[in-house]
Amino acid sequence: MDIWKKKTLEQMLHSAEKSDLKKNLTSKDLAALGIGAVVGTGIFVSTGVGAHLAGPAVVLSFIVAAVISALCALTYSELATMFPVAGSTYAYSYVAFGELIAWIIGWDLMLEYLVSSAAVASGWSGTFVGLLSSAGLNLPNAIIKTPSAGGIIDMPAVLITMFVTWILFIGIKESAKLNNKIVLIKVGVIILFVILGVFHINVANYKPFAPFGWSGVMAGASIIFFAYIGFDAVSTAAEETINPKRDVPRGLAICLGIVIILYIAVALVITGMVPYKEIIENNAVPGALARFGINWGAALVGTGAVIGMISTLLVMLYGQIRVFMVMSRDGLLPKVFSKVHPIHKTPTLCTIITGSIAGIMAGFLPLDEIIKLCNIGTLFAFILVSIGVIVLRKTMPNIERKFKCPWVPVLPIISALACIYLMSALPLVTWIRFIIWLLIGIVIYFVYSRHHSLLQKEK
Ligand code: ALA
Repeated sequence: MDIWKKKTLEQMLHSAEKSDLKKNLTSKDLAALGIGAVVGTGIFVSTGVGAHLAGPAVVLSFIVAAVISALCALTYSELATMFPVAGSTYAYSYVAFGELIAWIIGWDLMLEYLVSSAAVASGWSGTFVGLLSSAGLNLPNAIIKTPSAGGIIDMPAVLITMFVTWILFIGIKESAKLNNKIVLIKVGVIILFVILGVFHINVANYKPFAPFGWSGVMAGASIIFFAYIGFDAVSTAAEETINPKRDVPRGLAICLGIVIILYIAVALVITGMVPYKEIIENNAVPGALARFGINWGAALVGTGAVIGMISTLLVMLYGQIRVFMVMSRDGLLPKVFSKVHPIHKTPTLCTIITGSIAGIMAGFLPLDEIIKLCNIGTLFAFILVSIGVIVLRKTMPNIERKFKCPWVPVLPIISALACIYLMSALPLVTWIRFIIWLLIGIVIYFVYSRHHSLLQKEK
């Protein structure tokens, strides 16, 4: 048995689900898709956590994380347009690096999609509970907080995950039209927040600007990176665009450009309004308005955030289900993960299992810990993407690349180093959890997956 066995390109295109989709997306559609996936808990909630680590200099954390995301996005786009199949990083590492690495990436991607689903649900709950409380409805802590925050279970987080799981189960896909509306709502409430908040800035709150120095800025960036996760949705839709070569980089640039301007504006306004230590961790943005008695503004922004985060949750959970399905089709996970419901045409058990795990995590684990785990996992995947770009330029030089990452190998090397740098700012305990997670994955591979792998059975 060869654990390094690689799939050929033909095998990959044959076994993975091909995107047989119409090519009708423009760079604007791609940008909207990206914003729909990206803007969520990160900006509305974790800005608070980031500000506690970096102080008002959290605005620099936003910039650092944006630059790193942009580098990753360029490398990711090359591979996404080279291999237009479902399963993202997992699927093409099977071709580039062989089975064991592909498995590790697939396992690691759970940290990106599954864990970020839990994080988004948890952030959703914080905002929703804040909204209820500003309407005078205060629920008991036992059912709205995780054990580490003094409660028993974060019930709203569990319920929203169940709701989204149900939507995915009955197979309603988010349409581009609905996505565009949600994007308008999200962007609209962020602009509203900035306009309302800017008049309450007290420049004294900016001093000291960076109370914890550069290491604080980097610690902040290692959390804030979460706010950009999801831009890979743009690259994944590359195959559906009219002209990927032009539209993918443009779509990414518009998406990241708009997102970064919004984020920087929010960071500047919120740290100017509220002394950084007092920014509420689980309801940062609406909470800042409520502090100044702008309750209608807090309610409006909170409502927009709550609606907007549902689309982020939908994209993340859907992404996880697809990765599970592709791995199951390859035999690396049990067959139940790819069994499709006869009526709804969605993978029944896979959806239920994925939703349940995300719900349990969101109900019981603290948001900032989940975010750190998600970020370390995502950054790790992006390192392998960057290396993949360099390796594949050598091993498969002739495959058509509809979008080529510029300055290879320099840019992917910088991108990988930047990811490592950001990972190094995460605390030791996150690293330990991450390594344990990977070790569990490796054990499962040797105990189960390699014996069931379809590729291994092929002569
Ligand atoms: N970037 C996404 C969010 O902020 C995951 O919620």
